[in-house]
Amino acid sequence: MSSQLTPEMQRRCGGRPVQVVFDEATIAKRVAELGREITEAYPDGELLVLGLLKGSFIFLSDLVRQIDRPLHLDFLVASSYGTGMVSSGTVRLLYDPETPLEGKHIVIVEDIIDSGRTMKHLLTLLKARQPGSVAVCSLLDKQLLPTPIPEMRWVGFPAPPAFLVGYGLDHAEDYRHLPFIGDLTDG
Ligand code: IMP
Ligand code: MG
Repeated sequence: MSSQLTPEMQRRCGGRPVQVVFDEATIAKRVAELGREITEAYPDGELLVLGLLKGSFIFLSDLVRQIDRPLHLDFLVASSYGTGMVSSGTVRLLYDPETPLEGKHIVIVEDIIDSGRTMKHLLTLLKARQPGSVAVCSLLDKQLLPTPIPEMRWVGFPAPPAFLVGYGLDHAEDYRHLPFIGDLTDG
């Protein structure tokens, strides 16, 4: 699915052309499915949803409203990209949740898995704190990993080999506010 922008959305993007890859309705339908699946996966126990900022902020807020059970919410801030479109390979944890993780079911919410480096780093860090379980829900996955990360339990959509923006994802902090997911590399 790929379509041109309305003039209104083009204005929102600035000068650079962006192709729609996943539109608002498609995203909303998938997020509702993921919410149902997560609800069913945790019939009991304490659920802590950890959103990886900033990229997951829109997905996270839509997703938690589709999870029909008690939960706590916190954030993680990791930085692995500068202003470029290629991973710098450095993962820094800029904010770490204060909440004790011991015995809790953790769901890490991420925007996109590219090289998987950020997620692998985080998993090592969080698993050391003895949570009851850890699973990852990523909106997008570029499917570049030869061996999938075992904790990757939910993926919204397989991502095309492009640089994606919108619905929380940025390029040098631009485009996060787009209501759809678009491709910046075609333009
Ligand atoms: P990884 O460590 O290579 O898997 O990179 C993951 C992080 O890089 C994601 O959390 C995003 O913030 C960012 N990223 C990777 N690919 C894209 C993309 O296509 N668009 C926007 N951000 C991306
Ligand atoms: Mg991110």
